[in-house]
Amino acid sequence: MQKILNVALAKRSYPITIGENLLGEFQHFKLQAGQRVLIATNETIAPLYLQTLIDMLEKHGVKTESVVVPDGEQYKTMETWNTILSALLAHNHTRSSILIALGGGVIGDVAGFAASAYQRGIKFIQVPTTLLSQVDSSVGGKTAINHPLGKNMIGAFYQPQSVVIDLNCLKTLPQRELSAGLAEVIKYGIILDTVFFNWLEQHIEDLLNLDVNALSYCIYHCCELKAKVVAADETEQGMRAILNLGHTYGHAIEAQLGYGNWLHGEAVSVGMLMAAQTAKLLGKLTQADIERIKNLLIRAKLPVNRPTTMPIESYLPHMLRDKKVLSGQLRLVVPTKIGHAEVMDGIDKNIVLESIANV
Ligand SMILES: NC(=O)c1ccc[n+]([C@@H]2O[C@H](COP(=O)([O-])OP(=O)(O)OC[C@H]3O[C@@H](n4cnc5c(N)ncnc54)[C@H](O)[C@@H]3O)[C@@H](O)[C@H]2O)c1
Ligand SMILES: [Zn+2]
Repeated sequence: MQKILNVALAKRSYPITIGENLLGEFQHFKLQAGQRVLIATNETIAPLYLQTLIDMLEKHGVKTESVVVPDGEQYKTMETWNTILSALLAHNHTRSSILIALGGGVIGDVAGFAASAYQRGIKFIQVPTTLLSQVDSSVGGKTAINHPLGKNMIGAFYQPQSVVIDLNCLKTLPQRELSAGLAEVIKYGIILDTVFFNWLEQHIEDLLNLDVNALSYCIYHCCELKAKVVAADETEQGMRAILNLGHTYGHAIEAQLGYGNWLHGEAVSVGMLMAAQTAKLLGKLTQADIERIKNLLIRAKLPVNRPTTMPIESYLPHMLRDKKVLSGQLRLVVPTKIGHAEVMDGIDKNIVLESIANV
């Protein structure tokens, strides 16, 4: 059983297909015999899934090459981007070649950015293999690399021609990474959909146990929610900002403790609780709603307390450097009830400090 979601972006619309064993099914990739493909992946994923994908594509007459880069956020760099572009050039790929990103959000972001730049843009297919990339980074067309002076600071808006989500890939994903993806899943419930939040309260263990029906419903629904927000605001001028719930606080944790020590989703989990505290201090959210959010995060095996090694005063400098900050003013997404969030500007510094202290 497959589910197909069409992301409606006029000429740049594309399908997201969700199901089991899709790496073995040619039709979801929207490719044709005679075309040429370069697959970009990393050293962890290559031994697991690369050959399956190559064999399937070759069987259907698609000439396939691959480039394998090191694994990790620290490699989401200009150098890795250049490695992918060099592989395209070395194999004489043309403007009609297609780049496939096989991996998590790191591979998706850096390969997507390479596709946007190679010969001014070639077609690009996302095969996201982490829960986080399946529900978040593969929808919306943001691609980026990190710069020593800032994360995701260089990139492009660039949409794929299709996204293929093979649920089987999650079977090899470490549990901690799965939970990190669930943080973004829970985020969608908090900011946009109270019914979905209720559903998560019923099914969070099913998701942790990789129940196929629960996963496929959940991933489809998250992609649908994100696609709606993105369609309304493709280049992040307004509404798309609510997707950043917990991210401004979370980025402070990631930046201070070093990317990789706390996974992004773990930092977002704690960050969402800080944002919930901010909402409560502003009289916009009840303690009962905070408890529901916290309990769900705990059940998803996510952290709900701030890192003890990080002083409260160290958050603000990072938060003010966040790229979502508008001209020095602190801008935060705050949940106002389960299923709804608002963007707020100019929040008092003391409220921010108290929000951090309370988590
Ligand atoms: N473009 C966007 O809109 C967007 C949105 C959210 C996040 N992101 C980016 O995504 C990145 C985080 O993505 P991520 O959480 O997927 O991290 P990741 O790509 O680093 O993957 C996490 C780890 O899991 C491994 N892995 C991936 N799939 C696996 C599988 N099926 N089995 C076993 N191991 C597997 C990876 O090799 C890596 O070690 C960040 O760089 C973030 O900035 C982008
Ligand atoms: Zn995120």
